[in-house]
Amino acid sequence: MITVGILTVSDKGAKGEREDLSSRAIRESLSALDARIANYEIVADERELVANRLVSWADEEAMDVILTTGGTGLTPRDVTPEATLSVVDRVVPGFAEAMRAESLKKTPMAMLSRAVVGTRGRCLIINLPGSPKAARECLEVILPALPHALETLKGEAGDCAGHA
Ligand code: MTE
Repeated sequence: MITVGILTVSDKGAKGEREDLSSRAIRESLSALDARIANYEIVADERELVANRLVSWADEEAMDVILTTGGTGLTPRDVTPEATLSVVDRVVPGFAEAMRAESLKKTPMAMLSRAVVGTRGRCLIINLPGSPKAARECLEVILPALPHALETLKGEAGDCAGHA
């Protein structure tokens, strides 16, 4: 069982001015895994708010994975990657590289997402873009690698030889 936190980062969502369809899309995509959504919240595009939530969910709530959605682009308010980088111990570039590479096959706009992925202790923090379509497309790229990533992060994986 994977314990997941979903953090939607959106000024409009936090004010109740936009329905959070992205977290719904993420929940649907996760149904393919043995995952439990243990935490969910919408926060405004404020670096401190995002960073504080990531720290508390990783350290106190012991989430295996935190999926953020939104705030990865280029608008002046987009700070999710900076907040994430300020709290992770290690960056895992392959996840973000894979998401962008696959997404570019669908839209050139994929190169606008500055999403990062990293670890904080035993927690994997993954930035997804904000639209429901983009979040679903990106999550589906990385889902096949997620269980083994979490096993290795917890030190539970024997060796990687059995994984294609
Ligand atoms: N990735 C995929 N797979 N599909 C998409 O439609 N949209 C892009 C990009 N990544 C998109 C995508 C767009 S239009 C933007 S602006 C960036 O993600 C950043 O989105 P965000 O600021 O909502 O995080």
